[in-house]
Amino acid sequence: MSRILSAVAWPYANGPRHIGHVAGFGVPSDVFSRYMRMAGHQVLMVSGTDEHGTPILVEAERQGLTPQQLADRFNRIIVEDLTSLGLSYDLFTRTTTRNHYAVVQEMFRTVHRNGYMIEKTTLGAISPSTGRTLPDRYIEGTCPICGYDGARGDQCDNCGNQLDPVDLINPRSRINGETPTFVESTHFFLDLPAFVPALGDWLRTRVDWRPNVLKFSLNLLDDVRPRAMTRDIDWGIPVPLPGWEENPNKRLYVWFDAVIGYLSASIEWARRTGDPEAWRAWWNDGEALSYYFMGKDNITFHSQIWPAELLGYAGKGDKGGAPGIFGDLDLPTEVVSSEYLNVDGQQFSSSRGVVIYVRDMLSRYQPDALRYYLSIAGPESQDVDFTWAEFKRRTNDELVAGWGNLVNRVATLVHKSFGEIPAPTAPQPVDEALLVATRSGFDTVGAHLREHRNRAALTEAMRLVQEANRYVSETEPWKLKSDPDRLATVLHTTTQAVLDLNTLLSPFLPFSAQAVHETFGGRGTIAPMPRIEEVTDLDDASRTYPVITGDYRLGETLAPWASPTAMPGTPVGKPTPVFTKLDDSVVEDEIARARQA
Ligand code: MF3
Ligand code: ZN
Repeated sequence: MSRILSAVAWPYANGPRHIGHVAGFGVPSDVFSRYMRMAGHQVLMVSGTDEHGTPILVEAERQGLTPQQLADRFNRIIVEDLTSLGLSYDLFTRTTTRNHYAVVQEMFRTVHRNGYMIEKTTLGAISPSTGRTLPDRYIEGTCPICGYDGARGDQCDNCGNQLDPVDLINPRSRINGETPTFVESTHFFLDLPAFVPALGDWLRTRVDWRPNVLKFSLNLLDDVRPRAMTRDIDWGIPVPLPGWEENPNKRLYVWFDAVIGYLSASIEWARRTGDPEAWRAWWNDGEALSYYFMGKDNITFHSQIWPAELLGYAGKGDKGGAPGIFGDLDLPTEVVSSEYLNVDGQQFSSSRGVVIYVRDMLSRYQPDALRYYLSIAGPESQDVDFTWAEFKRRTNDELVAGWGNLVNRVATLVHKSFGEIPAPTAPQPVDEALLVATRSGFDTVGAHLREHRNRAALTEAMRLVQEANRYVSETEPWKLKSDPDRLATVLHTTTQAVLDLNTLLSPFLPFSAQAVHETFGGRGTIAPMPRIEEVTDLDDASRTYPVITGDYRLGETLAPWASPTAMPGTPVGKPTPVFTKLDDSVVEDEIARARQA
């Protein structure tokens, strides 16, 4: 048994989530967390909405709202999006809690005290027409490293390098096209070069990461410069130092604050359980495992900036130092990054209207159909295209005709022949062979899941579904009316196989896993769902907000990762199909809908 932190990227509270987001951080983290809980580990799965920084500010301005109003609105919408997909967070909170502010400020003060925050005066961009600071992301130009023309002031999406706006060739404002002017401004820079040896030592032990992610992270160490952790902006967490704290126009950089959310959410979770120190078992223990889930545009922040913050806090860079009250915090075990889900070869983009929102999709399709698609055809190790034709094909041919049909056939036969799960009499080798196969799935599927190879895991589980379907076709139970003993054995065997397969599929398909369990007379919950709870801010009684949480207790609300017993005598009623077959018109309808949008 291990303690496992599932640290899931924090979505910006500037819009509803689209399926590209949940393909990157959402479904993979939930599949992993569900499996690890079933396997007996103590999982703490945390995240929340990322509510500071320019993306929120700019969108709020566009909508005529304050940034907090905008964040309140989308925090709630995102909470609903993620819950409707069954993502089983222990705590999904937000970065505007008092707790988060306090944790972030403690991190900053200690990293600063340890000598890793360098104060420097540099050139910052302002908009000549308004006189206001022009945020990095809203400056565009040519990347000085790869020559890509659409690079942003903070990062080039083509080569992935971090940039400063002054580095851009031909900089221009993305808001109104004007050329920014640069003026002097003082900021704190995280002394990243002081962590290069420690980061290298850590990364060189990370042999089992996805090769792209590791290579990218190691390459970052070739050119490390101090990076600004404060901004000229009035929306964010105040810099907790005399002379800075009072300045309304200086705030901590959103990325300094957001990654600390993993820690602050763990602390909030512990405080809400009534054992305020409980988070330490996932952070100070040295043995606990931590997995960080995200899309590839987030790698730098999780494999370099966040570990550097942790090392700086612990006093483990070139300048030494001593940890603050949170102690020696563990570095990530693995940064699990996905590639991009595209649509028609283009990146999702709300502003260009190339987008499929989770809520729209789930208003028309089953959450498990989306989870299935994103697990079997998602951007696990390369960019992939989402197409409605493929969604329809996967849903109908694999989920409905493969798994759903097996469940339905078997439940119908059991119901009609016995009304309950029959007792087997004399199993034959063919019966035993099927059960050996489905039970072997606990090892083979489990091994893939532990390594974040969800596509391989699901492919293997679906291969076993095919074997079970083949067994039913070959044993032809519908022809066994005159041989009730043999019929009982065959139907017991198929029921046992279905329950095995249902357990193997439950991390991917938790909604239908519960339904299948009940179809075969099962009681209680085997695949628990998250719920939304309205809570009061722990340090501000006047504020309430929704969180995602849940009870995911092994053996109580959650089935273990093991073959469940198909108990003879359990009543089996007339089944209703678990999955909905999609009409051929779905593809055209969706394409027409996208055109209208
Ligand atoms: N809000 C960022 C994004 O959507 C992700 C932040 S992950 C975090 O790209 F951990 F830093 F919060
Ligand atoms: Zn570039």
